[in-house]
Amino acid sequence: MPVSIDRKSTMDDIIEDLDSLLSDETISNKYAIQENQIFFRAARSVITYTHWLFLRAPKIAPGGLLELTDFPLPDWLREMHEGLIEIERRKFPGLIKPLVDGIVEFIQQKNPRLLVNLGCGGMEAERQVIERLKESGYQKRLIFIGVDNSLVVKDIARANLRGLEDVIDIYEVEELTQDFLYRLLAIDNAKHAVVLCQNDIFEMDQYFEGRSFDLLFYSMFRHHLSDSQKAHLDRAASHLAKSVMEYDNYKSWVHLIPPSIANWRKPPLLNGAVFSRLRAPTRQELTGRKEGRKEGRKEGRATTCLQFFKKTGTYLIKRTLEG
Ligand SMILES: C[S@@+](CC[C@H](N)C(=O)[O-])C[C@H]1O[C@@H](n2cnc3c(N)ncnc32)[C@H](O)[C@@H]1O
Repeated sequence: MPVSIDRKSTMDDIIEDLDSLLSDETISNKYAIQENQIFFRAARSVITYTHWLFLRAPKIAPGGLLELTDFPLPDWLREMHEGLIEIERRKFPGLIKPLVDGIVEFIQQKNPRLLVNLGCGGMEAERQVIERLKESGYQKRLIFIGVDNSLVVKDIARANLRGLEDVIDIYEVEELTQDFLYRLLAIDNAKHAVVLCQNDIFEMDQYFEGRSFDLLFYSMFRHHLSDSQKAHLDRAASHLAKSVMEYDNYKSWVHLIPPSIANWRKPPLLNGAVFSRLRAPTRQELTGRKEGRKEGRKEGRATTCLQFFKKTGTYLIKRTLEG
């Protein structure tokens, strides 16, 4: 893994950007900035990175950790998304295949109309789902809604969905409303609709009627949230949708090695791949969460299924509310 001139200057630029955040009073989580700086300094060479991976990474407190792209640095966010899409498109290891399979199966079995993706990024999952539906000759019109708080991702999603114009119409709104949803549902058109919007995810349960969406899903998103936001997300998802799918990494040290090699030349992606796994729940925590849900409480009756995927080091939780 030789270090190229480009890689070195990327590292220097990132460290400089992080330096400027250290003196920014609007950013309170200085611990996360410092951990990122330590990471990028270590990632300058294979030897110092290996040292970091074995000695520093296990000591990092996941609670306060943020990824480079959680900071207001849009250029690195763009680079991370473009790299992530490239990886998600590869047949091996099929990073989002379990989610795409789950969504396609859901569509074919449940005949839904409205699907919403929280923290949608470049909408690669939707792109793969739409391709698969097209190949299978699926005729019914679907509405795919992508919610993300970053403006940058709207451009990335548009570019990623290029080539599907014969089967989709793209709508861009700042804030999706219940009224706009009704209008979309009323449109008599053979093409699927893809809506890009920036609603505040934590307010959506106040503005949309209960079970407005047939399927709500999120991928590589939940680990970006604080504990209180995660709890809010779970409540909001149960309110907003009839079925929910959650897809993300689980914590595993072995799964830190392949992305360290594969993303070595793309430092923002390397950071995202490694830090997101350090922030991820363990398999045991996920199983405990599923068992906790079984007890039901205020959520009404729900069927929950949890699957682990060793090849990708990911999990999929599928939850369907009954009645
Ligand atoms: C790692 S990316 C995953 C993108 C996509 N879901 C995928 O699997 O490729 C996480 C996404 O979540 C978005 N995000 C993070 N926190 C958010 C929040 N509070 N509200 C909305 N979007 C958020 C980011 O902008 C980013 O696009």
